[in-house]
Amino acid sequence: MQTILLPTSPNWDYSFIQSRWVSDDLFVSDSRTEEYYRDKNAICYFTQATSICEIGVRAGYSAYAFVQEPRVKKYIGFDINQEIDGGIVGYSDIARTTLKSINEEFQVIEQDSQKLTEIPYGPYDFIHIDGDHSYEGASHDIDIAIKSNIRWVCIDDFDTIPTVQKAICDAVIRHNIKRAYYLPNTDGLSSVLFDMA
Ligand SMILES: C[S@@+](CC[C@H](N)C(=O)[O-])C[C@H]1O[C@@H](n2cnc3c(N)ncnc32)[C@H](O)[C@@H]1O
Repeated sequence: MQTILLPTSPNWDYSFIQSRWVSDDLFVSDSRTEEYYRDKNAICYFTQATSICEIGVRAGYSAYAFVQEPRVKKYIGFDINQEIDGGIVGYSDIARTTLKSINEEFQVIEQDSQKLTEIPYGPYDFIHIDGDHSYEGASHDIDIAIKSNIRWVCIDDFDTIPTVQKAICDAVIRHNIKRAYYLPNTDGLSSVLFDMA
């Protein structure tokens, strides 16, 4: 896997996310999270995505990082809205309301991604996969993203969750992916980007 360092977008503004942070969220906003979300914004800037799908929205912080790029006209997120893999019941409702206040077209849909056989309401340029972190769950989400002909597929948690790391590595082999990029982060909160063009 090739390592790439993504440039910071001129549109990047962490206060856009901070000002929307859920006040009693136990996942606190700090310098580590700032770099993490800068990276998310940079992926969107680098790929020049205009239409984005996300599996695993939580409170919408990655979504806010993506939609800071003015070319993003479509965002649809799917979240199971349960207390699993960092989820908090009700947070996807907060994300839905906040995203709609940014752009009436942006949507968050309550949905178990494991019940999907393809990514709905496409096409999309880019998908961010950060939902079910089991090996089977992450593998399933990667497989339906690739089946849905999405060019850019980003999977979170490569360094921190072994089951996700194995799902990513096995998907590279299973789908014969030629362009898989490792996106490093100084705190080990790295992700992997597939270019399926
Ligand atoms: C780590 S959080 C996502 C964080 C978000 N991407 C961000 O950076 O702000 C994982 C989310 O995935 C959701 N999730 C877990 N399993 C899921 C599934 N099978 N389908 C859809 N969402 C799922 C959880 O409810 C939780 O909100």
